[in-house]
Amino acid sequence: MPVKIDVKELETKIQNVFPLPQILEKIMRAVNDPDANATTIENIFKYEPSLTLKLLTLANSAYFGVPGKITNIRIAITLLGLNLIKSLAIHASVNEFFRFGTNIPGFSGQELWKHSVGVAVCAKMLARDYKLGNCEDFFTLGILHDAGLIIEYQFFRASFIAIVSRMHERKKSLPEIERAEFGMDHAELAQHLFAKWNLPAFFSQALRYHHDPLQAPESFRTHAAGLFLADQLVRQINFGFGCPAEPITPAIFSLLGIPLGDLEKVKQEFLLQIDELALFLQ
Ligand SMILES: [Fe+2]
Ligand SMILES: [Fe+2]
Repeated sequence: MPVKIDVKELETKIQNVFPLPQILEKIMRAVNDPDANATTIENIFKYEPSLTLKLLTLANSAYFGVPGKITNIRIAITLLGLNLIKSLAIHASVNEFFRFGTNIPGFSGQELWKHSVGVAVCAKMLARDYKLGNCEDFFTLGILHDAGLIIEYQFFRASFIAIVSRMHERKKSLPEIERAEFGMDHAELAQHLFAKWNLPAFFSQALRYHHDPLQAPESFRTHAAGLFLADQLVRQINFGFGCPAEPITPAIFSLLGIPLGDLEKVKQEFLLQIDELALFLQ
């Protein structure tokens, strides 16, 4: 029996169970404030154990070149830079959903987290190598792109279990199954919530179209397509949770200005980057 998602009702439910967007709002306000400095950010982070832990783990990963040396939040903030801090805060907020989660057949919160980090690293790499836009924005989009799935998993557990098992039958795509069950897919769900949480428009738009980027409004198409390509590459190499990979049409490559022949090179480079981020993933 399909359970239609009522976005208004869901917003209230989330506000009650999940107050973290308020912390996120504080952090976003601070990083967007031209007068904010490392101290402002430090004062928000230091009272949040999960954020502090993530910040220090990331700063001490081999990725930033000084493993095992950073014990001070202020230095970690300077090392990572404000954009990455923003990504981290957003993801930590979304990640709080996992706190209540238990594994279900064919899905675990940890595997989705791993998939999301993979897509973030890959999207950032594509943005940097092919000049698609701000690299840290692509990282954040990657971290958040499947946030709608987390919400389904957290708030509509019974339907989500049914959706995951139908997904593994591979007869229909995940968004098709979700639309039949909920009346919307995880991309549309994330779009509603992100707009409600006042995240930038390109965030909610790129997320909305991460499964069909060619349908995205022109000004958001590059972000949606970059995200789509990163998502598919990560799924092709089975890194973390993922629905079956979808075909990447030549139109996606030409939209992004990426030569088709670069695909293998990109995959190899991604595998190296993921190795370096191993600590962050533990
Ligand atoms: Fe997705
Ligand atoms: Fe994904």
